[in-house]
Amino acid sequence: MGKKVRKAVLPVAGLGTRVLPGAKTTPKNLLNVVDRPILSYVVAEARAAGIEHLIFITGRGQGVIEDYFDHHVELETQLAAKGKTDILAQVRRDVGQPGEMSFIRQMAPLGLGHAIWCARDVIGDEPFAVMLPDMLMAAKRAPLAQAVDAYEKVGGNIIVVEPAPEGETHKYGIVALEKQDGRLNRMTGMVEKPPLGTEPSNLFISGRYILQPEIFGILQTQGRGAGGEIQLTDAMAGLMTTQDFHALEYEGTTFDCGDKIGLLRANVAFALARPDIADEARAAIKALL
Ligand code: UTP
Repeated sequence: MGKKVRKAVLPVAGLGTRVLPGAKTTPKNLLNVVDRPILSYVVAEARAAGIEHLIFITGRGQGVIEDYFDHHVELETQLAAKGKTDILAQVRRDVGQPGEMSFIRQMAPLGLGHAIWCARDVIGDEPFAVMLPDMLMAAKRAPLAQAVDAYEKVGGNIIVVEPAPEGETHKYGIVALEKQDGRLNRMTGMVEKPPLGTEPSNLFISGRYILQPEIFGILQTQGRGAGGEIQLTDAMAGLMTTQDFHALEYEGTTFDCGDKIGLLRANVAFALARPDIADEARAAIKALL
């Protein structure tokens, strides 16, 4: 078996166009789902998967992400003085351990592939996870932990996938499989937003990956692809010519929080799943309908 997956790259430098103006001064991944920022859930997921080092790829105006994961001494002192120990514990839960987090500036949002490439020196020569934080996942077992389990079985590269809603495959990156048998299948390719009727499967790439470090050599020289951006999908297609890729259909549900309705759905779903507020949330939603 190959090396352990110890590091995760979290690219957060995108412009967040679909949730503007909200994402103008608050990075979109710091927008709340119920009472925690999206990133708080994703960092918890990474830790549950045994990740030891989180590498955030940030853009201008996103220094506040680094602040979120640091101590806020005045706030913590006030909460302690007022005896608000529950909320204090929740605030502290997200604070990074010394050396657990790195922050790299992308300088220009040239695309997801470029964002990942910015992490090359911090990753070095070992397999690593990529987590697209705006894809928030509700699952019993942390989705990235499910990916690590799959990696420990088959090695190589793992792409986490999920069935697209009926008739919506043309909105996503879709995987092609050697054969579809169970949840973990060898891939033969992937296609970005295939016209309806041409999709090779109904499984979309849902924002968690385990990749081998050879991807960096491909990204190094890769030109711009769709939308004028340096695409991770193009680099993965290149790596697939020499390395194994498996698609893992994980157990859980993805919410695209980079999208207005996705963010709304995540808020509703996560509120209804919270024992402390579920009843009140259900009543409030019912009253609106
Ligand atoms: P998206 O395309 O979903 O995010 O990129 P975006 O660009 O912020 O959103 P829109 O389309 O403008 O609304 C997927 C992930 O890749 C990151 C984004 O932050 C997001 O988490 N990304 C994208 C970067 O870090 N850098 C880039 O150059 C592009």
